[in-house]
Amino acid sequence: MAKERTYIMLKPDCVKRGLIGKVIARIEEKGYTISNMKMMNLDEKILREHYAHLVDRPFFPEIVSYMTSGPVVGMIVEGENAVKGMRIIMGATKFEEATAGTIRGDFAMKTTENIIHGSDSPENGEIEIKRFFGENA
Ligand code: PPS
Repeated sequence: MAKERTYIMLKPDCVKRGLIGKVIARIEEKGYTISNMKMMNLDEKILREHYAHLVDRPFFPEIVSYMTSGPVVGMIVEGENAVKGMRIIMGATKFEEATAGTIRGDFAMKTTENIIHGSDSPENGEIEIKRFFGENA
């Protein structure tokens, strides 16, 4: 399979708990390349776009308040099968389903504060990369 790109975001709990280095180490040790990275503060507007499929869910206000509670680290991660491969090392979204050895399985105890976001398809990866890094990324 050709080299693929995915959008990865280290969430505010990852930054606050000082886990950026540990999570990045896992991504790099797996063999992926981080080709761009930046720390940023998100606002509700971009979260409504990024989580458009969830705006009507009861937990959406919690997502906004959590994701605006501190900086996040956005990254472009590249490698063979990067979208699926990153989701495997991230572990399941629901923390209680994330197996030991995965990032969420080892570091997360809540589904909202679950350390890391990763695109769910190559198409969405490209959309999310452009959303956070601009049209020319
Ligand atoms: S779905 O429809 O529940 O399957 O949504 P999904 O695309 O898997 O994304 C869910 C994202 O919302 C965050 N979140 C929660 N999900 C489920 N339940 C609760 N209570 C909840 N709170 C927050 C979850 O962390 C997913 O975020 P991302 O950044 O996409 O991993």
